Amino acid sequence: MSDRRVLVNLRGLWTPDPARTWAVDRIPDAALAVVDGHVAWLGRAADLPAAWADAPRVDGGGAWATPGFVDPHTHLLFGGNRTGEFNRRLQGVSYQQLAAEGGGIRETVRATRGASLAELVTAGEARLRAFRERGVVHLEAKTGYGLELATEGRLLAAYAELRRRGWSLDVTLLPAHDLAPEFGGDAEANACAVAEDWLPKLVAGNPGVARFCDVFVETGVFSAAQGRRIFEAGKALGLVPRVHADELSWTGGAELAAELGAASADHLMFCSEAGMAAMAAANVTPVLLPGTTLFLGMHEWAPARRMIEAGCRVALATDFNPGSCPCADPLTILRLGCLQLRLTFEEALTAMTLHAARSLRHADLGHLHPGARAEVLLWDVDDLLELVYWVGEPFRPRYLPETTQT
Ligand code: NIG
Ligand code: FE
Repeated sequence: MSDRRVLVNLRGLWTPDPARTWAVDRIPDAALAVVDGHVAWLGRAADLPAAWADAPRVDGGGAWATPGFVDPHTHLLFGGNRTGEFNRRLQGVSYQQLAAEGGGIRETVRATRGASLAELVTAGEARLRAFRERGVVHLEAKTGYGLELATEGRLLAAYAELRRRGWSLDVTLLPAHDLAPEFGGDAEANACAVAEDWLPKLVAGNPGVARFCDVFVETGVFSAAQGRRIFEAGKALGLVPRVHADELSWTGGAELAAELGAASADHLMFCSEAGMAAMAAANVTPVLLPGTTLFLGMHEWAPARRMIEAGCRVALATDFNPGSCPCADPLTILRLGCLQLRLTFEEALTAMTLHAARSLRHADLGHLHPGARAEVLLWDVDDLLELVYWVGEPFRPRYLPETTQT
């Protein structure tokens, strides 16, 4: 027997339309028919087809409904935190300076190498719960704080366990997140080890866990040529590239992502006009992370409007990580998307739902049209724009109850 129910008593429902790039359908007095956890029909309650007349009703309580948020860029698993370095940054020491001193990502690498599988899983589950309470129903999660085989493998094992526990996430292998201390600054040898040795062993040892691979292509980290070599090795193993690109300086990261047919190029504060055109032509999703720009105290906001004009389907993400954006709050990112990247509310909503899901190659997430997973957020506000307008309010969505009422 299939589980059929109809969500009724909604003030309205807003959802991106997967058939159109930036269109948001706004349906007043909406109803949503669900079969086995997937949307079967969407429209005005008054137009509900007769076939649904006797299906159990779920009371939306007069809320506004939206699709669940999708976060396409997080560094979910890491040990420790970086409060100590944060205070030094407030005193004027730059993020790059801390890294040059052996801190920054390297500090988190030390803490992560010292964390057990059980500790990583426990921390990961608490963070996933926090994301879900704030409306994130699916996210991408990277390795990258191991920078050696054993710890990168343990991070993959932790992600596999979180998935076994029912969390909805995609895993990205990022063993080239920084130069590993063992290579003494030899980026070429480090890139070679990642491409030739680590990626094949990590994929073979953890089959089916990672879908994507990533490299921090940045001045003083990995060059575009070294990134290309690692991504080609990843592609040969079935991993789709996502690129940390043009974050602190222009490195040709967006152009590289387009050349590789990457799913996404992420950050892009220093993206070139040619990079934007190349991403649009190659259908690479620019994933913008304004929380990082804010937290690093930078003034170079990613040129979201120019990307949209170039034809890109821009997505938004948190970049949740302990160094450049310790923020697991999608509403903060939506607010920065509107206030700093100059997106309209509808564009920001689409960027954090439909385009985020598309960048992870999920056609059934990020919208509420028939076929979508019924991951519905219920918001108890008078007007949906209040979610960004009341800048400091910690709005929390309600989810559909498990039990139905008739
Ligand atoms: O996305 N750019 C590299 N990685 C992270 C920062 C990681 C950290 O500082 O721990 C980022 O900004
Ligand atoms: Fe990142």
